[in-house]
Amino acid sequence: MADPRFDSSKTKNQALIKWISKMIKMCNPKEVVWADGTEEEWHRLTSMMVQQGTMIKLNEQKRPNSYLCRSDPRDVARVEDRTFICSYSEDDAGPTNNWHEPRSMRSKLRGLFKNCMVGRTLYIIPFSMGPIGSNISHIGVQVTDSPYAVVNMKIMTRMGSKVLEQLGEKDFFVPCLHSVGMPLQEGTCDVPWPCNPENRYIVHFPEDRTIVSFGSGYGGNALLGKKCFALRIASCMARDQGWMAEHMLILGLESPQKEKTYVCAAFPSACGKTNFAMIIPPKGMEGWKISTIGDDIAWLKPGKGGRMRAINPEAGFFGVAPGTSKETNPNAIESCSKNSIFTNVALTDEGDVWWEGMTEKPPAHLIDWKGNDWTPDSQTPAAHPNARFTAPASQCPTIDDAWEDPEGVPIHAMIFGGRREKDVPLVYQSFNWSHGVYLGATISSEKTAAQEGAVGELRRDPMAMLPFCGYNMGDYLRHWIIMGKRVELAPRIFHVNWFRKNAEGHFIWPGFGQNMRVLQWIVGRCRGQSKSKETALGWMPKYEDINWEGLDFSEEKFEELMHFVPEKLRLQTLSHEELFLSLFNHLPKEMIFERELLICRLCK
Ligand code: OXD
Ligand code: MN
Repeated sequence: MADPRFDSSKTKNQALIKWISKMIKMCNPKEVVWADGTEEEWHRLTSMMVQQGTMIKLNEQKRPNSYLCRSDPRDVARVEDRTFICSYSEDDAGPTNNWHEPRSMRSKLRGLFKNCMVGRTLYIIPFSMGPIGSNISHIGVQVTDSPYAVVNMKIMTRMGSKVLEQLGEKDFFVPCLHSVGMPLQEGTCDVPWPCNPENRYIVHFPEDRTIVSFGSGYGGNALLGKKCFALRIASCMARDQGWMAEHMLILGLESPQKEKTYVCAAFPSACGKTNFAMIIPPKGMEGWKISTIGDDIAWLKPGKGGRMRAINPEAGFFGVAPGTSKETNPNAIESCSKNSIFTNVALTDEGDVWWEGMTEKPPAHLIDWKGNDWTPDSQTPAAHPNARFTAPASQCPTIDDAWEDPEGVPIHAMIFGGRREKDVPLVYQSFNWSHGVYLGATISSEKTAAQEGAVGELRRDPMAMLPFCGYNMGDYLRHWIIMGKRVELAPRIFHVNWFRKNAEGHFIWPGFGQNMRVLQWIVGRCRGQSKSKETALGWMPKYEDINWEGLDFSEEKFEELMHFVPEKLRLQTLSHEELFLSLFNHLPKEMIFERELLICRLCK
């Protein structure tokens, strides 16, 4: 019998109707609402959350149509140790994932979800990752009891009736089930940020292409289109269907001669990805124009012109706020100047937001992310280090004209990088595709104070996908090798390191806008215009191969930046053994050969 809470007339997709009916029966919400992503809905839900104390409306003059949320202090980030890949076989998840047997996980989740939405509204969010109708895009449907998730999904995805139309009667969708895990029994009062920190599960069933998330309302745990779908599940779909789902930003560079080149870049967390995606050309390079397609995720498919074509599956930025300022990233600041949501930042006395690094001098008084009075003498930060802004990509001043092109943009180069204070030069180019895949597979980054583990400790993070690859990392690297052969003009692959320090502990390279000089060399390499010299690591620029107009940077400093000690790198290369051994029977042979070749090149 039809459930009176559910208006199924909105879709003719029987699989969708069946799935939602099942979810309603299990979760038992008070009511069921189709979310459509309209302005009317945004105003209705944000007003409701203001009334409930979940959101604070910011000063309309300073930050139009924008809101602040403070999460439960126990629910502030993605939870990697509570993230599971439930493939049928443990080997398919591989040693870098938390595997759990799928049947027992399903039964555990059924127990948790039973009546979990009592007293709450169940929202149905049909969403498209990527421009609606693009043959690179895919559709998901999220069921959630979090209105916070609904309004964030409005910014981060394309959602609503257009998606249902596209889905039609038969099309495929990824079912994404989410609950904050805190039923609201009659007579009990709600809290501003419901969650269930004792029972958190972020679960992926790769063969069924389904996602189930319980107990958290924060970011990647609750906005299931992002890391869960666009990376973990999409990486499995991409392997099976011949495309790529990568943790990469997408950037366009237009030369003074109006030649446009697009590049993708992968960096582990805390390496300034959003800043790089919105880079501003420095003094002396004013003739160059940069444009942004995406700051976090790229979906790539072989396409027109014999190249990989890339789309940004997202429609917004979920950026880390602390450290973002008019100086470090004016484009990000402009992107979140209106129509945005801020989570766990501080509130100023004027009703605006503030976070560490936004201004040199902090305001004399703030309300911190926990809702307490804060002054510059306070011992704790005003904003949580993982505080976020959710902002529409369309508001980014550098957004590329083709950012919604259904065909995607042609990718000429892929860049891998990490945070390395020592040993690793500013930039070098791989000799060929399989050497490039090896560079990506062996990305390593030193941990910063914001991450778990000892500061400075090296974390190996293949393609910056360690927490996001939905299957065996060895098979994933094999897929990379295969994809290079599927296009006539595979992207050139580069390695960069902006973070090298001198003996006194100071950064040698100024970074930020000056990284454009490296990008210009990369573009030139892709177009046969930049010179280089062959080294054991790959092709490297000589001092005169970089454009220094407008920057006083001596040849000596450049040599210090590019210098490497073969013996030291050889020893580090041997330590790749650990990662490679753990993946042994899935690893493509090319990775072993590339490592051996590198060791040979590094020997005298
Ligand atoms: C992110 C991450 O939040 O990569 O984007 O950690
Ligand atoms: Mn990311």
